[in-house]
Amino acid sequence: MKEFLLPPDAKTLINSMRAVGYSFEAAIADIIDNSIAAGASNIRIRFSPYNAAYVAVIDNGRGMTGSELTQAMRHGSRNPDEIRSETDLGRFGLGLKTASLSQCRKLTVISAKSGSMSSRRWDLDFIEDRKDWALLILDEKDIEDIAILPEIGNKGTAVIWENFDRVSAGESSLERCLCDALDRTRDHLSLVFHRYLTAEPGYRKIAISINDNYIEAFDPFMTWQSATQRLQVEKIKVDGEDIIVEPFILPHQSKLKTSEIEKAGGKEGLLRHQGFYVYRNRRLISWGTWFRLAKQEELTKLARVKVDIPNSLDHLWEVDIKKSVAHPPEAVRQNLKRIIARIFESSRRVYTYRGRISHTDNLIHAWNRVVDREGIAYSVNRSHPAINELRGSLGDHQKYLLEGMLRTLEISFPAEAFYADMAGDQRNVKQGIDTPEELLDLARALLSTAVSAEAAEKLLAGLRLIEPFCHYPEMLDKLPALLKEQDIAN
Ligand SMILES: Nc1ncnc2c1ncn2[C@@H]1O[C@H](COP(=O)(O)OP(=O)(O)OP(=O)(O)O)[C@@H](O)[C@H]1O
Ligand SMILES: [Mg+2]
Repeated sequence: MKEFLLPPDAKTLINSMRAVGYSFEAAIADIIDNSIAAGASNIRIRFSPYNAAYVAVIDNGRGMTGSELTQAMRHGSRNPDEIRSETDLGRFGLGLKTASLSQCRKLTVISAKSGSMSSRRWDLDFIEDRKDWALLILDEKDIEDIAILPEIGNKGTAVIWENFDRVSAGESSLERCLCDALDRTRDHLSLVFHRYLTAEPGYRKIAISINDNYIEAFDPFMTWQSATQRLQVEKIKVDGEDIIVEPFILPHQSKLKTSEIEKAGGKEGLLRHQGFYVYRNRRLISWGTWFRLAKQEELTKLARVKVDIPNSLDHLWEVDIKKSVAHPPEAVRQNLKRIIARIFESSRRVYTYRGRISHTDNLIHAWNRVVDREGIAYSVNRSHPAINELRGSLGDHQKYLLEGMLRTLEISFPAEAFYADMAGDQRNVKQGIDTPEELLDLARALLSTAVSAEAAEKLLAGLRLIEPFCHYPEMLDKLPALLKEQDIAN
């Protein structure tokens, strides 16, 4: 066999790699990953949408020497299988190049370390011209032309994007597109890096600004709200590493300020953003999904689950190049499923019992009339013995199905038709029980849950306070005799 070296075509490959699918804000987040990994405490994004438009990310991290910078500019600068430090947010040795060139045609990196400054540039026009991986090294005069040069200290790195063709593709104004993109970037970074932007115990706080406006952290679990519920933290061990899972139930909308609901994505956003929030080394990589272990539902919209994974488990979580996708491995999925069932229960409670139940008697009703600020709702009373007993006999998944069924019935109650029928002249809405045998059937189901004859007797006596039995006192009087007859017949 003969060997033949076949390097990729520079122009074609570098252009194809631009289509990895980065959004502007995700690309900036990738550049910030590098700054954080380099130990930066202050990261400044500077941009100008006018004339020679540019976007620059300037950090005060450890910086790079000339040879380190050359290596950093190489596509695939590091081995993806390398064991990385706990604070390193990188994996593939690609982000700096692919994220940048997905948005612009000219990427310049200037880095200062040990008193010297180095700079390198990938320029797609130049590569196309040379038909090769031709990296540019800027000389002193070229560097002096860089607008943000005075902002680079004696230690740190600046990543500069110029010549934007993608950002405004199909649009007429680059100016407006860049400003919109930076607006989205602010929201994106405030969520993705929220744990870095606040002083989490044991970690240093990092400042990120856009044109000198500091970005505030947005905590998707609303832990500043005293009404947010924190459920028990669980640890899942995989390959000797800990995955830490902490579920939160957000407060019901009626307890949130309008501005808080807006920040959470509006009423619709609350629904869409329920699910797992996966953090890789405290950086949010994936959110608003239940990983197909459950459905996104109105009922569970208040549930959000923080999942902390270390970078040493990247291979199991199938983390992608953009680090925007992570899929839990089998061992973790099983545990998450169990945790979901527990969370759904708590979320349901917040949601279903948010109002005041407006019964004035001491009967156990099958339906609750719930009055809250938004109006009146009717819900099935989950504590009614007929439902409570059934729920108690079910596994987690069946409980979940039962809940789905009850909610379906509640939500689709034909209130308007019912109102029209009741308000009409005929008032012939048929409801109720006609014979003691019918009542007996219902009672028997309940009595079957009693563990002893004594308990059955007590329950029988208690039926006078439970719907629907309480509405039929005469039939109830006949029940003991009927029951006895049947017992004898059986
Ligand atoms: N701001 C920075 N400060 C110091 N070093 C940097 C900076 N940005 C990049 N580097 C160096 O350049 C290397 C290549 O960065 P790049 O983002 O391309 O890959 P990565 O971070 O290693 O992995 P990934 O593709 O997952 O992001 C980094 O590993 C790091 O050594
Ligand atoms: Mg990187």
